Amino acid sequence: MIADVEVATLARAWGIAKPTHVLANVATTIAMKKPAAGLDGLIVGETAISTLDHGLHLRGFAIEDLVRQATYSEVAYLLLHGELPTHEQLADFRAILAEAAEVPPAILQLLEELPLHVAPMDALRTAISALAHFDEQPNETDDTASLGKAIRLLGQVPVLIAARQRLTRGLELIDSDPELSFAGNLLSLLTGRVPTARDERALDQSLICYADLEFNTSTFTARIVASTGSDLHSAVTAAVGALKGPLHGGANEDVLDVLLAVDSPARADKFVRDAIAKKRRLAGFGHRVYRDRPDPRAVVLKDICRELATTDEQHRLEEIAAAIEAAMWLHKQLRPNVDWPIARLYRMLGFDAELFTPLFVIARVAGWSAHVLEQQRDNRLIAPRANYTGPPPRTFVPLRER
Ligand SMILES: CC(C)(COP(=O)(O)OP(=O)(O)OC[C@H]1O[C@@H](n2cnc3c(N)ncnc32)[C@H](O)[C@@H]1OP(=O)(O)O)[C@@H](O)C(=O)NCCC(=O)NCCS
Repeated sequence: MIADVEVATLARAWGIAKPTHVLANVATTIAMKKPAAGLDGLIVGETAISTLDHGLHLRGFAIEDLVRQATYSEVAYLLLHGELPTHEQLADFRAILAEAAEVPPAILQLLEELPLHVAPMDALRTAISALAHFDEQPNETDDTASLGKAIRLLGQVPVLIAARQRLTRGLELIDSDPELSFAGNLLSLLTGRVPTARDERALDQSLICYADLEFNTSTFTARIVASTGSDLHSAVTAAVGALKGPLHGGANEDVLDVLLAVDSPARADKFVRDAIAKKRRLAGFGHRVYRDRPDPRAVVLKDICRELATTDEQHRLEEIAAAIEAAMWLHKQLRPNVDWPIARLYRMLGFDAELFTPLFVIARVAGWSAHVLEQQRDNRLIAPRANYTGPPPRTFVPLRER
């Protein structure tokens, strides 16, 4: 608390005879150091789940190793339980996930009846919130209940996204196939076809890249909600709302617009210079933390995109992307983030752009849930302060006298 003498100084400056409680609070906020805009660089908590300190590590494992050697199911297990699963643990986890994938008919009906103009990401946010009403333990927040909800959501979210996609196109819904991998089942739910091993692996790798990233904005949102004692569905619903924004997860839906607008590697340099001159932000570039070093997910996914590209159009898009990358580095010293290659990867898998951010949600449910569990295990309400910049205390004038 600020010293009485400083309150008295402020009271004198504002011509207030008797220092009040409100004045003391205002004096305190003024005395606080002004935080960097956007909480840039501020450490706001502790986590044992992931760190960006040296690249990206999830529970101590480098993202490159996980992408090249693990599956998304193993990574989701790792995030939720803290250790990689054994064969047996993974088989059990996959069986529980498959069982959890059932979605109540009322939710499917809701997804069918939402107006057609509602974007998949908005429909998903609504459906996740509505799922809470059908959950076995809607408001329970103990460890077992939250883990159960997390696993149910992990299984259900792919079904929600595929159902909305197929219902709005008048297509039959596809049943989950417990024999398929997480990514294979997701592809099957969406397309109705047996996935190729190549597509399945590429989608799986993208989900691993999206699974968790320390205290990013949507995860912090989830933790704030959890810190109030609220439930996991509320935290995840809020996190989906945060992820949707174009500065966060929503950026992946805008990346293709950039690539297609450039249309040829030769036009990349001028396009980038014009964008910078107009102070336009190019989706897929820049990162709050990965500024002085590359986003490791973008590096590994760029290689995967090159490995995946087979058609002339896909090779051409890779060349355009490389030309834009070079120009962004030359003119603004900005590097690509995870969304830059992932948009190309999802296009190669045949997804519409409006599905890109919902796919991000599927992956991040594991990370959000792990963070909610961590917050609940050692909770203190997250309730920060602000520097007050409004008018000093003043005399209220009743309406009749204004
Ligand atoms: C991610 C992002 C929000 C981080 O923002 P931030 O940490 O607040 O970055 P800053 O505002 O400090 O940016 C520093 C400078 O780089 C510029 N910049 C940042 N990202 C840019 C981008 N994608 N395209 C063009 N310029 C960009 C800013 O305009 C600013 O320029 P200035 O100093 O001339 O004013 C930002 O890079 C961005 O908007 N990227 C595009 C959206 C995106 O891809 N989001 C997904 C992130 S994983």
